[in-house]
Amino acid sequence: MTMDLKGKKIVLGLSGGVACYKAAELCRALVKEGASVQVVMTEAATHFIGTVTMQALSGNPVHTDQWDARIANNMAHIDLTRGADAVLIAPCSADFIRKLAHGACDDLLSTMCLARPRQLPLHIAPAMNVEMWDNAATRRNVAQLRADGVCVFGPAAGEQACGETGFGRMLEADELLEELIASFQPKVLAGKRVLITAGPTFEAIDPVRGITNLSSGKMGYAVARAAREAGADVVLVSGPTALATPHGVRRENVQSARQMHDAVMAAVNGQHVFIGVAAVADWRVTNASEQKMKKQDGGATPQLEFAQNADILASVAATTSVSGWPYCVGFAAESENLLEFGAIKREKKGIPLLVGNIGPQTFGQDDNTVILFDEDGHTVLPRADKLTLARQLISEIAKRIEQRSLLT
Ligand code: CTP
Repeated sequence: MTMDLKGKKIVLGLSGGVACYKAAELCRALVKEGASVQVVMTEAATHFIGTVTMQALSGNPVHTDQWDARIANNMAHIDLTRGADAVLIAPCSADFIRKLAHGACDDLLSTMCLARPRQLPLHIAPAMNVEMWDNAATRRNVAQLRADGVCVFGPAAGEQACGETGFGRMLEADELLEELIASFQPKVLAGKRVLITAGPTFEAIDPVRGITNLSSGKMGYAVARAAREAGADVVLVSGPTALATPHGVRRENVQSARQMHDAVMAAVNGQHVFIGVAAVADWRVTNASEQKMKKQDGGATPQLEFAQNADILASVAATTSVSGWPYCVGFAAESENLLEFGAIKREKKGIPLLVGNIGPQTFGQDDNTVILFDEDGHTVLPRADKLTLARQLISEIAKRIEQRSLLT
């Protein structure tokens, strides 16, 4: 838990839809992340989930009515958004989208949205049947909201509560949480394409055995999330990990170093940044068995033979001489002399930026300390959780590519 919403005041609006059940989970997640949450519900939403539940989860009285005798000045529609950092309507029904698009103010939630301060961000998480989402009227209304500066989170495609399948499912609570946290991050990589490798690789010995390493993928996934939060279009080429794909990131799964190399080289064209975080196997087994190897009676052990894998980072770096892109960033885990080895490795790989850490004890951990090596020397990023470090790294990369763009 990084408490990314600490000190933030979020107004969570619920309109009528079965996805209200996900809003309960979302409310809890927002509070756990440090936000103070004020829930406002339409009358329809109260048919799907009780105000008591939302009050207990948010720790605040829930507002449903513009004629509320509890409010001394009877101006809840004004007061609720003053001092707020964001309004999120989840679920946002087709009807509520219509109301927002037309500036309706016939209940507390719609009046509150219309009366919110101009600079206060309004986000919506649509939730409806696939035909309702596809309907020309809804499309028009959603386009209008986007044009008005409203941020639309989702919806996702999949099986729906009504039994039909398609776009219209509300995003899950953890995805909405990621979207909301991302909305507060500076968009330093807006419009940029970023390709990232992460995790370990797996070199087969036979169909059930192989050689791998202790990389968990946590740092690479954190970098992918941070790049996406910064507004980039992100492709993540990942070795085998147990991690969930960061929301909004396209992930391609691979096993071996060769597969990772091929996937990266197929995707590298047009990328602005390449970040090699994966712990790529240096060697592959050349005499891997097609069938599962059996123990020999005489105790003879398998004799493995190896060939060196291509260096993915160096291959990508070699392509940059033509266009100047992508800006290449490498990672290095050293067990000693990090300051010396890091600087040497950056030069050897022919890359502008190398991120060094003392490994292998960082593998699988949530925290890390890293040192950035570039042509001007080195910069220490003090110990922090991997997502915080990843955000700092993305900001350092953004600064450097901006300088580079200014120079060319
Ligand atoms: N890397 C790569 N392809 C490889 C090996 C490494 O793209 N076949 C990348 C990693 O993703 C990382 C960087 O190179 O960004 C450094 O990897 P590391 O294993 O530390 O460096 P090596 O070049 O393998 O050097 P050595 O093992 O000798 O320390």
